[in-house]
Amino acid sequence: MSVSVPRRNHVLIVEDKPSLASVYRTHLEKDGFACELAVGEAAATAHLESSRFDAIILSLELSGPGCLSLIESWSASHPQACIIVVAANASINDAVDAVRAGAWDYLVKPVSRNRLITTLTNACQSPAPQATGLPIRPSRPETAAPDTMIGSSRAMADTRRQIEAIASSSAPAFITGESGTGKELCAQAIHDLSPRADQPFIALNCGAIPHDLMESEIFGHLKGAFTGAISDREGAAAAADGGTLFLDEICEMELSLQIKLLRFLQTGTIQPVGSAHSRKVDIRIVCATNRTPQTEVTEGRFREDLYFRLHVLPIHLKPLRERDRDVAELASCFLDAYTREETRSFSRIDNEAVDTLMAYDWPGNIRELQNVIRQTVVLHDGEALEPHMLPDHIVNAKARASSPAPGQTGRLLWQIERDVIEAAISGFAGSIPKAADALGISPSTIYRKRETWAEKSA
Ligand SMILES: Nc1ncnc2c1ncn2[C@@H]1O[C@H](COP(=O)(O)OP(=O)(O)OP(=O)(O)O)[C@@H](O)[C@H]1O
Ligand SMILES: [Mg+2]
Repeated sequence: MSVSVPRRNHVLIVEDKPSLASVYRTHLEKDGFACELAVGEAAATAHLESSRFDAIILSLELSGPGCLSLIESWSASHPQACIIVVAANASINDAVDAVRAGAWDYLVKPVSRNRLITTLTNACQSPAPQATGLPIRPSRPETAAPDTMIGSSRAMADTRRQIEAIASSSAPAFITGESGTGKELCAQAIHDLSPRADQPFIALNCGAIPHDLMESEIFGHLKGAFTGAISDREGAAAAADGGTLFLDEICEMELSLQIKLLRFLQTGTIQPVGSAHSRKVDIRIVCATNRTPQTEVTEGRFREDLYFRLHVLPIHLKPLRERDRDVAELASCFLDAYTREETRSFSRIDNEAVDTLMAYDWPGNIRELQNVIRQTVVLHDGEALEPHMLPDHIVNAKARASSPAPGQTGRLLWQIERDVIEAAISGFAGSIPKAADALGISPSTIYRKRETWAEKSA
């Protein structure tokens, strides 16, 4: 059995130029998306009424200024569909207006194949956007994984103790750790154990929201504060009043907004964009980053005064490779969950497969492990999960570990990382989106890293 089609993959392409529409379609269908084409607004509306789509590619020229009201109306009537706007020329104002109206992302023509696939893959893997277009993520990731933190390693025991110790405080918590180590889960656990547990937990990803929109996303805005502010809107800080505001990827926040966040932390008051008045709110801040915050401060990308305000109760999550047998425990929990979800009959992982999983480095940490187990369960069935069912790059890593090839010692970390990622790409027949998914990183990270490797190897 071979299952490689993404779960959410139904795309409506709304484009006035049929030739361009069929180029998009060809690219997308090669990557497993199912596409339908619509020329003009009326045809698009008819498609939307008769089928359910996961993403809509909308050419901005389609209806000129009316396009914004189209985005608003579609994002309200079809909230499960991520709207991706394709514009003829790069205007940041258009992009900002489109995102404010509810678009998920914005591409400028000519759109490269890679950019198109990456954007659509990310859109279709994202939780369905909310009807308002507000990019605040749901407080819990949509996953079959248990929402408690699994692992009996010393590292996890320390983390649990730290979470329990800091939960009752209202002081900011600062979570660091590599990608996929469980920072968001940890933030949620801090909230759930706190006296604020029955109040809202609002998560805001500072890296996913365009800079121009960030201030209004946090502090809200009044009607007419800027083009596109068609009504008053509450920001994340007001929504989190009484509860917890989780600022994810905090190091991605622009310096000018860092000053505003600092002022908010100093005064405890929020001032919506366009308002002359501020009001007091009671919020516990939890923030997270997979960067090293001290380095960001030293290199001038993060304000030192804000760092000291936020870095009050630090928690560092260790990478999975330093958590001993947690790999086996997590794998077994994920196996149970996905076996139920996919109606398979797995009841255990055989010893050799456990050794194989434990010998691997897990650069994408728990998210990568979760993806590998899910993929294995979808593609296979049996009583025991056996090594041959695991992706090649994981099995090969064990083979390499047990017989180190000459010249393998003395390699730099980026070279080892490159080999792991390239092995994953070949394991997925050259598909970067699939390799990225298995490694728990985004395809754009792979593209970026490849550019860096090319420079380093030159
Ligand atoms: N200890 C754990 N037990 C069970 N599941 C976990 C654990 N840690 C993380 N997970 C799961 O792994 C996935 C990744 O976790 P999470 O999103 O919290 O990581 P992250 O550090 O925020 O990642 P990123 O830096 O990429 O945003 C989630 O599906 C989460 O439920
Ligand atoms: Mg996260």
